[in-house]
Amino acid sequence: MPNLVAVAKVADTPPGTISVHEADGVRIALCNVNGRFYAIDDVCTHDGGPLDQGELDGELVECPRHGAKFDVTTGRAVVLPAVRPVKTYPVTVDGEDVLVDVG
Ligand code: FES
Repeated sequence: MPNLVAVAKVADTPPGTISVHEADGVRIALCNVNGRFYAIDDVCTHDGGPLDQGELDGELVECPRHGAKFDVTTGRAVVLPAVRPVKTYPVTVDGEDVLVDVG
């Protein structure tokens, strides 16, 4: 069952940036890739690094701790040392509001 939570305004997260939000007890890294929003767990699957503090380069976010990279559109780990995907959440934009379905 969808559990849509309004986490941010569109203007809060410009293209190429990441913002961090709490949604129903889940810490979400909201990523703006060329105007499209993607939401992932803000916790690296390697050793818990805060992904919102990493660099977003296109669709890839680099963990600030040991350099793993994840595709924010799928959650897939594409660069070691992380091997497990990070969880992704569906995002809906409604006017100026960004809503994340935390399930
Ligand atoms: S905690 Fe993210 S790469 Fe190690």
